[in-house]
Amino acid sequence: MNADPSQQRPDRNLALELVRVTEAAALAAAPLVGKGDKEAADQAAVDGMRYMLHSVQMDGVVVIGEGEKDEAPMLYNGEQIGDGSPPQVDIAVDPLEGTTLAANGMPSALAVIALSARGTMFDPGPVVYMEKMAGAPEIADLLDLDRPLGETVRLVAQRKGSEVGDVMVVVLDRPRHEEGIAEIRDAGARVRLIPHGDVSAALLAVTERSPVDLLWGIGGTPEGVISAAAVKCVGGQLLGRLWPRDEGERTTAVEAGYDLGRVLDRDDLVSGNDVFFSATGITDGDVLEGVRYPHAGGATTESLVTRSRSGTIRRIRAIHDRAKLRAVGGESASRAGT
Ligand code: FBP
Repeated sequence: MNADPSQQRPDRNLALELVRVTEAAALAAAPLVGKGDKEAADQAAVDGMRYMLHSVQMDGVVVIGEGEKDEAPMLYNGEQIGDGSPPQVDIAVDPLEGTTLAANGMPSALAVIALSARGTMFDPGPVVYMEKMAGAPEIADLLDLDRPLGETVRLVAQRKGSEVGDVMVVVLDRPRHEEGIAEIRDAGARVRLIPHGDVSAALLAVTERSPVDLLWGIGGTPEGVISAAAVKCVGGQLLGRLWPRDEGERTTAVEAGYDLGRVLDRDDLVSGNDVFFSATGITDGDVLEGVRYPHAGGATTESLVTRSRSGTIRRIRAIHDRAKLRAVGGESASRAGT
């Protein structure tokens, strides 16, 4: 291998292939947006994603998927994906991040996928939830899951040269966050409550000049790993600490060797240094526009496509011809697109 970066030839950017995968999931789920059936929308997204994943030459294993084999017929944890040719990769998928958002036609539902070298993604094991905090590069060193939240928002304001009242923290609207929300508000900062979708919220929090400065709260562990992959690509930091729901889950996790006190950063959650990430909007949100149907037979998508090694962030807007897609087996491969 040539050590001089100027002499290295550009290699394959898998993210540019993954965008077709998240587009396929989004296009398949979109006809079910607002139909009130989150299982059907999720299944359509899974079908669409899986269909297009076959086109990616790789030797992949699903590390973060739709659950265990007996409960998820497709994209289950441990499933081998691809034609077996190099590279060997770990795959994290969430074909429909925000099932309720999509079912209710609400903002910020996404299709997401992340890839990293084999063995480099954190396996959350039995623990379903994780406490998370994420922020942009300029405040990355201020993130701390042990410091009182009120103090952290004051430090963020100081660093940004703004008033604490200007700081906005995005938090999932859950009873378990009542105390944290009160701490943030008591310090004078503002809270944006969201019903679902903390991957989209993490992306928003690490984006500079966004309306949100910080993400905090307890959300899904799989979403935490996927968010960490995204943050590694676009910049910023994400911290996570496993949050068992009850004594049973705590005991199982400890017996399986998990250190529940450990704060994991983005590099612990995804340790590979060549991470690929793609997200396509399903419903409109702050980060991405959702699937739209500008005229009969047409659809548009917007995706965020990025890779940690180069740090290039691409926004890809695509215009799709649904009849042609169906003819080549695209949309019609999913139950929803036909
Ligand atoms: P789904 O797509 O599986 O419905 O998850 C949506 C989500 O809001 C995630 O973004 C978040 O991490 C998690 O659920 C929070 O879990 P809960 O709704 O149980 O608090």
